Amino acid sequence: MKKVVVTRPVPAAALDLLKERFDVSVLAEGEAERPGALAIALEEAHGALVLITESIGEAELEGAQNLELLANMAVGYNNIDVEAAAARGVLVTNTPDVLTETTADLTWALVLAVARRVVESDKFLRAGRFDRWGPLMLLGPDVHGKRLGIVGLGRIGEAVARRGRLGFGMSVSYWGRCRNERVESELNARRMELDELLETSDVVSIHVPLSDATHHLIGARELERMKTTAILINTARGPVLDEAALVAALEAEQIWGAGLDVFENEPEVHPGLMDRDDVVLLPHIGSGSLETRNRMARLAAENLVEVLEGREPLTPV
Ligand code: GLV
Repeated sequence: MKKVVVTRPVPAAALDLLKERFDVSVLAEGEAERPGALAIALEEAHGALVLITESIGEAELEGAQNLELLANMAVGYNNIDVEAAAARGVLVTNTPDVLTETTADLTWALVLAVARRVVESDKFLRAGRFDRWGPLMLLGPDVHGKRLGIVGLGRIGEAVARRGRLGFGMSVSYWGRCRNERVESELNARRMELDELLETSDVVSIHVPLSDATHHLIGARELERMKTTAILINTARGPVLDEAALVAALEAEQIWGAGLDVFENEPEVHPGLMDRDDVVLLPHIGSGSLETRNRMARLAAENLVEVLEGREPLTPV
């Protein structure tokens, strides 16, 4: 029987599917983070269901003689050295599509929370400070009818743009490697250079994958170009945004606020962000709906079933 390692407990639907066919071991919470533990766990495995909290490179793969597939339970796969895996004949899969709409929903939760000061208002009320309705109390900018700038028009960027256009009547601009004429006509979207997008958007939302080319794509220079009333959202990957530059921009009141679900050195958060009311900070829960986490785990497991039974992976990277 082939052996499968699951690096942390995941939804039962995926485990059941794997247990019917393979000899499955599930590492305890935190075990994969112990130095060397992952390399040992992968030594005997034919397949592994891994998560974005695990970095997998040469060192982890060195002794993994039987390994056929690393099934990442995420759409992003910057945690895996795909070239090192390919050099050893190890396939890598991710979980695209199943999390697109859920992540777009959370992106919008952040947009509205920052604009309308939802978290700050909740804290205000709980602190006993709501003594009467106030005409000037906790005001923030409107979102509907404004301009939305999408940085990276992939699946999630498009889903966020669709909500902005159809739900909030926003005009949509995007910056991306390729032109997308379908989205341009469906959403009346305009492709523009990054600088122009930053200068003209009221909400800027980041949706590029992390790579050498996108590391610190948004830094001091880019933040300076944004409107002082603008909101910046990042539900993609932390290092795309220079967090120290963001803190400086917020301190200088260069932008209105920011909503972040991802951080440069997760799970650490820049201390300069922690006490600010103009940021909303979430612990990387973009895909965290009950339904979607089940779908992601199940797709990762299905990839393992396909590959370990000698068929093609469903969603190779
Ligand atoms: C989560 O961050 C993912 O890439 O799926």
